[in-house]
Amino acid sequence: MPEPVVQIRGLTKRYGDLVALGGVDLDIRAGEIFGLLGPNGAGKTTLISIVTGLARATAGEARVLGRDVVRDYRFTRRHVGLVPQEINFDPFFTVEESLRFQAGYFDVRLTEARLTELLTALDLTAKRHTSARALSGGMRRRLLIAKALVHEPKVLFLDEPTAGVDVELRRALWAYVRTLRDRGTTVVLTTHYLEEAEALADRIGIIDRGLLRLVEEKTALMARSGGRSLEEIYVELVGRKEAAAP
Ligand SMILES: Nc1ncnc2c1ncn2[C@@H]1O[C@H](COP(=O)(O)OP(=O)(O)O)[C@@H](O)[C@H]1O
Ligand SMILES: [Mg+2]
Repeated sequence: MPEPVVQIRGLTKRYGDLVALGGVDLDIRAGEIFGLLGPNGAGKTTLISIVTGLARATAGEARVLGRDVVRDYRFTRRHVGLVPQEINFDPFFTVEESLRFQAGYFDVRLTEARLTELLTALDLTAKRHTSARALSGGMRRRLLIAKALVHEPKVLFLDEPTAGVDVELRRALWAYVRTLRDRGTTVVLTTHYLEEAEALADRIGIIDRGLLRLVEEKTALMARSGGRSLEEIYVELVGRKEAAAP
């Protein structure tokens, strides 16, 4: 089996007395969609923040393409893309400017062809010269995804990509995530929607209170569960049900 794209060992994060991650071991395989499912406060964003270089672990380590995310920060940063949970861009830039700025940050040339491709894929062509503050919530979400893809990352992290997004856009984003995977991008997404993990993930991890409670292929999980739904398995592990996707 090829080397995992992301290797996480003993990953621990404490905020004072609070243990946000309690020693997580996890491998992400090349070309998969991995769904990290867990309730609010479980540690999903913390894990993604450490792997993408935005936060430092208290203990343990994370590797991307075999390189340590702290020691080889520049390398690992170059090969990951992050769509953050919170929408965070300069409201005064246009869509095109935001993408060009992001390309500059990664020191890559944004060709007209690549720009057109991203705008088309994320359905932002008509908004190319619109400033971010004039975009709807759904368009902002799509702009964040386009930004995260500018430097053609090998691994894309999507942190709750469809929280607060309407059904139509959610389905469109799911389809696009599958397209990215089919083209060879490894995708890690966090969600607290059971339905989303079930629809999209090749493998599912369930995290609660900083501990990974389960990691399994979705099909094996469903086969082994003897007709139980993912929801029943989740409730058994986490002890409560999450709100269904709106
Ligand atoms: N900067 C921070 N300072 C203190 N506590 C934090 C900070 N970031 C996250 N936490 C806490 O760590 C835990 C995990 O948070 P988070 O990773 O955001 O969970 P999730 O993304 O699964 O909802 C929560 O209890 C949260 O309140
Ligand atoms: Mg989060």
